[in-house]
Amino acid sequence: EKGEYRHFMEKEIHEQPDSVQHTLSEYLDLVTGKAKTNAIDFAAVERIQIVACGTAFYAGQIGRYAFERLAGLPCDVEIASEFRYRSPAVSPKTLAVAVSQSGETADTLASLTWCKAQGLKTAAVVNVHSSSMAREAEVLWPTHAGPEIGVASTKAFTAQVAALLALAVAAGVARGRIDAAQEAELVKALFESPRLIAEALRMDASIRSVVQDLAKADDILFLGRGAMFPLAMEGALKLKEISYIHAEGYAAGELKHGPIALIDEETPTIALAPLDDVFEKTASNLQEVAARGGPVIMIAPENAPDPHGAGIRRIHAPDCHPLIAPLVYAVPMQLLAYYTAVQKGTDVDQPRNLAKSVTVE
Ligand code: F6R
Repeated sequence: EKGEYRHFMEKEIHEQPDSVQHTLSEYLDLVTGKAKTNAIDFAAVERIQIVACGTAFYAGQIGRYAFERLAGLPCDVEIASEFRYRSPAVSPKTLAVAVSQSGETADTLASLTWCKAQGLKTAAVVNVHSSSMAREAEVLWPTHAGPEIGVASTKAFTAQVAALLALAVAAGVARGRIDAAQEAELVKALFESPRLIAEALRMDASIRSVVQDLAKADDILFLGRGAMFPLAMEGALKLKEISYIHAEGYAAGELKHGPIALIDEETPTIALAPLDDVFEKTASNLQEVAARGGPVIMIAPENAPDPHGAGIRRIHAPDCHPLIAPLVYAVPMQLLAYYTAVQKGTDVDQPRNLAKSVTVE
């Protein structure tokens, strides 16, 4: 039941410190500071092919950045409805990974079955552990988000990201890319995420202060670089789904290749700007937006420098290790969508035209 919360979505957003903690504990050992051994020998894998739909696809893209950076493991991520029909060329030592909350999404399941028929090793990151995908894949990589009732995915998404980040650390260790000291540092950073997610939940007051403006907009841009790029697309998807405002997530560096033409006083830009190695690049993109009169909301830690430019509003996010930024910054994305939808009076838990589980293509 919803208890003290108005909507299941709000309740599920607030469950994330626990659901992420629980999911991380499946893959990492807090006491020893080590990644647990799991059923896949990452040293024998040459490539990863992730297949998923919707929010799970964005979780997969975040996973990709980690598998390549931490484990030097080439990783492709594709929307399952495209993958299954385009006769993809897959090399034999590819590990196919389906990512799905329900474990029943028709296109993702069909892609997994196809990969298995090609003789590939298969794994499934799923939240429903008795689902078709859990049974179809050779290896089950569970997420522990618990039942998700809200149609718009929140805690299942962060659990998927947590699992993939933890698995990327395990892959880095298995492939000799991460030594024992780095492993301990990364495991510690990941286990700090539940506390920092709880801190991010306290951003609700500052987020509520901007939703009146957002609720008036017809179009909203979300920008980010690195793992914040797929998270920007997830933020845009969440907003579209429950507030029915048109939104697009873009790689900040792509701005001048087209979307900057959309910028005017009525089109807000929301930027995800953790203090990482591309912060300055993102900040300069925001100056370009502000210089064209576009209202900018920059989500960044308090100690991040101020980009020059009138019209840049800031919302402070907890400062965190870059590896866990997708988990921490997911919270303001969800809260923005949630409070904007509440402001507009839409049906948050049952958005129009959407179903929780898409078992037909
Ligand atoms: C978005 C959302 C959908 C699902 C997608 C895949 O909030 O919930 O985009 O992520 O339909 O569903 P699963 O993860 O069950 O395969």
